[in-house]
Amino acid sequence: MTDLAKHKLAAQRIEKLNHADMTDLCDATIAAIEKDGGFGWVTVPERDVLERYWKGVLAVNLRDLFVVRLDGAIAGTAQLIKFPPNNQAQSFSAQLTTFFIAPWARGFGLGEMMIDTIEQHAKSINLNIINLDVRETQFNAIKLFRKMGYVQWGMNPYYAMIDTRIIPGYFFHKIIQPLPSITPIET
Ligand SMILES: CC(C)(COP(=O)(O)OP(=O)(O)OC[C@H]1O[C@@H](n2cnc3c(N)ncnc32)[C@H](O)[C@@H]1OP(=O)(O)O)[C@@H](O)C(=O)NCCC(=O)NCCS
Repeated sequence: MTDLAKHKLAAQRIEKLNHADMTDLCDATIAAIEKDGGFGWVTVPERDVLERYWKGVLAVNLRDLFVVRLDGAIAGTAQLIKFPPNNQAQSFSAQLTTFFIAPWARGFGLGEMMIDTIEQHAKSINLNIINLDVRETQFNAIKLFRKMGYVQWGMNPYYAMIDTRIIPGYFFHKIIQPLPSITPIET
């Protein structure tokens, strides 16, 4: 039996975090920030700040929170941010963000499983497009997004600042289910 086959992998949308889940989620977040960041935090915040952050995410209707589990423990997370109802023009799309797998859980296929689960959920709520952006230096994530069919459409040379270094960012989209017939723009 391979090491991978010994482990139980799972991905899900989560609407409540019990005490054990909150502890696991904060531990995973801290480990990921310490390793390579990649989702906003450059330095590790205090634990109570992190807990308030995750509680806040659950409280916001426009954010759907997803986690992956390795042998039951939360080992990574991502969010799908939808547009508010007043933005009818963009309501067919959403933004995948705050995505990471804890360093100790990488290489098991959990990243791919997370994206699959998010895409299934996005289809179930009738979204057509998922957008995302990522720092140029997150090589593994870029490889993963390309493998999962995300298409790069842009690059911002001034995307993030780590210490005093400016890092470019790449912008991707994926059509997860067919768009309504497109009317060409008249020129
Ligand atoms: C990117 C990340 C989410 C991948 O998670 P993971 O669970 O290790 O990924 P998986 O095991 O599902 O790997 C799937 C694919 O991702 C790519 N990949 C992941 N880790 C890789 C590595 N170390 N080297 C090369 N490619 C890698 C590969 O395409 C891989 O497919 P393959 O095994 O067929 O080559 C994880 O490394 C991470 O959290 N990185 C830091 C945070 C980050 O960059 N987040 C994205 C910000 S938007």
